Amino acid sequence: MSTTLGVSRPDQASYMLRAADGAGRGYKQQLIDLLNISPGQTVLDAGCGPGADLPTLAERVGELGTVIGVDRDPVMLARARERTSELPGVELREGDVHTLPVDPGSVDRAKIDRVLMHVAQPGDVLAQLHPVTRPGAVVGLVEPDWDTLVVDAEDLETSRAFTRYTTHEVVRHATIGRSLARLAHTAGFRVETVVATTPVFRDAEEADHTLGLGRNMQQAIAEGRIDRNRGQRWFASLSEGPFYASFTLVTVVCSR
Ligand SMILES: C[S@@+](CC[C@H](N)C(=O)[O-])C[C@H]1O[C@@H](n2cnc3c(N)ncnc32)[C@H](O)[C@@H]1O
Repeated sequence: MSTTLGVSRPDQASYMLRAADGAGRGYKQQLIDLLNISPGQTVLDAGCGPGADLPTLAERVGELGTVIGVDRDPVMLARARERTSELPGVELREGDVHTLPVDPGSVDRAKIDRVLMHVAQPGDVLAQLHPVTRPGAVVGLVEPDWDTLVVDAEDLETSRAFTRYTTHEVVRHATIGRSLARLAHTAGFRVETVVATTPVFRDAEEADHTLGLGRNMQQAIAEGRIDRNRGQRWFASLSEGPFYASFTLVTVVCSR
């Protein structure tokens, strides 16, 4: 990893696919298993991004099933289309998850993976999801809780300042992971399972890519939240020896 702070934003679709293949692989597999999908069902991936999970969902529903991917970003949907062009049961729809473009009572299984932390009103999104699911449907939600982000460095205070900056300034609903079960209950779902997983990053470059260590530190410095010399030294120190960073993701599986 370069020891100089970086400001450029990676291509978002590639960023998400790389994260899904790296730190995300374990919890994604677990989420899809917990959905207990049967052949022939209709599965909704709300906020599907570049379609990291669509091929697996399509495999689970088989030839007679349908997978609906919804995202508001046409660039994401174009990548999702490329990944699923050979899969006839996959439908991609451009739309906002606050007003899901899905027929009422048509969905057997739904997942929302790291989308609610970004939307304007997470509770409204879950309330919108409820009527599009069939009675007995299973819904899986995953969101991080960024208060749990820890990065090992000798300068512990700067690591803590970095986490505070991430939760206060970078992510809209940064602590939604801990509230996910409560939000699902309020939207009318029955909460069945709650699991926390903690991806561990031992590679500084992968962590930088997924967690935006250099990018967000640069922003914190530019906004005067973290002293420039301190931030630069902290970032450079991350390449100097065994690396450790982790954060917690909360998975909630509920039924209608
Ligand atoms: C972190 S990505 C996760 C993508 C995918 N769920 C995955 O696990 O790989 C967040 C996605 O949510 C989408 N998104 C954010 N707000 C949205 C909204 N209000 N309506 C629809 N999609 C939204 C973004 O365009 C992006 O593709």
